[in-house]
Amino acid sequence: MDERLVSSEADSHDSYLEQSLRPQTLSQYIGQDKVKDNLKVFIEAAKLRGETLDHVLLYGPPGLGKTTLATIVANEMGVNIRTTSGPAIERPGDLAAILTALEPGDVLFIDEIHRLQRSIEEVLYPAMEDFCLDIVIGKGSTARSVRLDLPPFTLIGATTRLGLLTAPLRDRFGVLSRLEYYDETQLSLIIQRTAEILEIGIEDQGAVEMARRSRGTPRIANRLLRRVRDFAQVIGVDTISTGLAIDALEKLQVDKLGLDHIDHKLLLGIIEKFRGGPVGIDTISATIGEESHTIEDVYEPYLLQIGFLQRTPRGRIVTERVYQHFNMEAPKHG
Ligand SMILES: Nc1ncnc2c1ncn2[C@@H]1O[C@H](COP(=O)(O)OP(=O)(O)OP(=O)(O)O)[C@@H](O)[C@H]1O
Ligand SMILES: [Mg+2]
Repeated sequence: MDERLVSSEADSHDSYLEQSLRPQTLSQYIGQDKVKDNLKVFIEAAKLRGETLDHVLLYGPPGLGKTTLATIVANEMGVNIRTTSGPAIERPGDLAAILTALEPGDVLFIDEIHRLQRSIEEVLYPAMEDFCLDIVIGKGSTARSVRLDLPPFTLIGATTRLGLLTAPLRDRFGVLSRLEYYDETQLSLIIQRTAEILEIGIEDQGAVEMARRSRGTPRIANRLLRRVRDFAQVIGVDTISTGLAIDALEKLQVDKLGLDHIDHKLLLGIIEKFRGGPVGIDTISATIGEESHTIEDVYEPYLLQIGFLQRTPRGRIVTERVYQHFNMEAPKHG
């Protein structure tokens, strides 16, 4: 699969560049006011008491700023952050090694925490609750369990799939924060901030045009800006005008709502071949030549979110809005 411009997942260029674009403090972090306000209080209170911050679980769709927020929390607490991920921890011993190497107050960030194995989760429970580790020494009849004290630490877990987390793990987090999609104003601010870091000028309305096409997601906003900047540099200007932004976005084939050719193929396929649906996912898959699970996990979520698609027991239906978007007349169902 090609790397898709409007994908909310990080691609190889993103992971490299995002480091430098990440805000470092809560005040630089745009939007997510509810989450930010709460964290501010908890951080302040923990500092006043001289304690570590409670464990925090951040959840929400890709590219909304979970990893960024974890880094900021560590910064604001004035502690180190140790980063790992669910799939990277293969054996209980791996986790034990990470935990015993922490310094008091440190943040341990586990990305994709829903992918932790059960046996490893079980090591995490006493670590989160009592800051200790139960390890078994020896084998067979001579085996005995010893308890090892750990430095107090804050676990920050991140997941795009809260539903896949086991209840016992979820319940051990004191703070559960859900990140929301960003609105146009917030995304414009993010784009302007990134433009400043990349040292390229941008007209306000130019930023708005990109914000509109960013699917509520900062990662996409930053990526669109980088691509549009390429157009500006090639023609030798140091400011992205609104006209240039619109022109470049058109060439990049990202429409006014941030839909690309795959979204178009999917929506128009349902309209042209199935009179707008309902049509089953497997039939759609066969018609447009994409795997059903890719359609469900990658293409559909945004279309469902903006109310372009509906899931019904009899299959997918395109809504009135899609016909408006394409300037088409909706068929009369009778
Ligand atoms: N609130 C924000 N303000 C400014 N920039 C942001 C904000 N949130 C995210 N970003 C930018 O978006 C990019 C992606 O954010 P981040 O990597 O934190 O997302 P994520 O939620 O961890 O995604 P994933 O689920 O793929 O791990 C970062 O480079 C960051 O610069
Ligand atoms: Mg992340």
